[in-house]
Amino acid sequence: MNVSQINELARRYGTPLFVYEGRKIKEHLGILQKTFKPVKGEIFYAMKANPRLAILRSFRKAGVGIEAVSWGEVRTALGAGYKGRDILFNGNGKTESEVDSAVQQGVEWFNFDALDQLDILEWVAKKHKRKLYALLRAKPEIKSVTHPHLAVGERGSKFGFLRGEIPEILRYAKKLKYALLSGLHTHFGSQILNVAPFLQAARFSRDLFEEIRQEGFPMEMLDLGGGFGIPYAEKDTSLDFKALTEGYREVLAGFRGRVVFEPGRFLVGSAGVLLTRVVSVKRGPGGDFLVLDAGMTENIRPALYGARHRIVSIDDARLMIDYTVVGPVCENSDCFGNFKLPEMRRGDLVLILDSGAYGSSMGSIYNSRPRPAEVLVLDGKLSLIRKRDSLPSLWMGET
Ligand code: LLP
Repeated sequence: MNVSQINELARRYGTPLFVYEGRKIKEHLGILQKTFKPVKGEIFYAMKANPRLAILRSFRKAGVGIEAVSWGEVRTALGAGYKGRDILFNGNGKTESEVDSAVQQGVEWFNFDALDQLDILEWVAKKHKRKLYALLRAKPEIKSVTHPHLAVGERGSKFGFLRGEIPEILRYAKKLKYALLSGLHTHFGSQILNVAPFLQAARFSRDLFEEIRQEGFPMEMLDLGGGFGIPYAEKDTSLDFKALTEGYREVLAGFRGRVVFEPGRFLVGSAGVLLTRVVSVKRGPGGDFLVLDAGMTENIRPALYGARHRIVSIDDARLMIDYTVVGPVCENSDCFGNFKLPEMRRGDLVLILDSGAYGSSMGSIYNSRPRPAEVLVLDGKLSLIRKRDSLPSLWMGET
């Protein structure tokens, strides 16, 4: 995008505005397809990263499945044209009614994190006189690879079973007639930029999968989760996909069964920017604050995970100044960090980069702030894919 296109978008749709580039989504999909090809890995997009219908439709057309974690997500994927059989339903707190609704729509694969969750699968399957396929979620116990909020494969995590708990789970699962234990699921964390933990988790999963198969279960799917990171901060490096490809090839050589991955962030994160306007420049003894019209309501990642997203001006031809960049929300944590930027004036536009994943999807209406509009540029065509919230919709909910 050039400066005049950016100005035009801001004029037409207002700010803040999420802008996604379909070309970058395709490019990143291509990188993962190439990485998983030697192990015939299937991709199920973790739609929690960005659930916009237009984005889901483009994945559907590319032959990508869906990883959903609530009935709301399953329903959204169906709305984008997905069939139940292309949706994998994960989550540690699925209700009976959510599972029931999903089964009625043809969803067949569910993970489980607890025995009562497996019970729900059995009851619902029995009620519909159908077989369901259950994926046991295991904790590979991989330590400190990412921010503690995102490290979900560790001992104390609410997700999955520890190795030592598994024999009992298997004894229990053996008695079930409708929910068939047919797969193993691991997802140990998110925003991971090193290759080693992915391979460590893959080795753990492969071995455990084979052990469960030896116990006589009809093991079919090895789901290795998501977690593939993107460079956000200036100092971040990219994941080494060549090493990952080689590693998976080696770890999964001779593996019999379906290999599945659930990437979210990597597919959409770098494809989105948050276009925002400077609403105030506050000079003072404590430094210069640059106040944007976007904040933690549009991107909670800095406040929640201490994340740093690069922020750039659309006009670099000015003197560079140190700013603390903040949003307009009434919280001190509504802060994007310190940045050197060209001298800013009220009304100037800046871009918050890598905002395609977990920006809009984690957005809130705190301070009665309407959620921004979102646009997608795909095959040279610009479309409005979500309207800005109207205030009445915040008061009453959509009708
Ligand atoms: N599979 C499972 C079971 C997951 O829990 C997640 C993410 C994914 C796949 C996709 O992970 P990804 O490829 O996107 O890393 N809000 C946080 C990220 C939370 C991720 C939650 N689970 C953030 O903004 O960094």
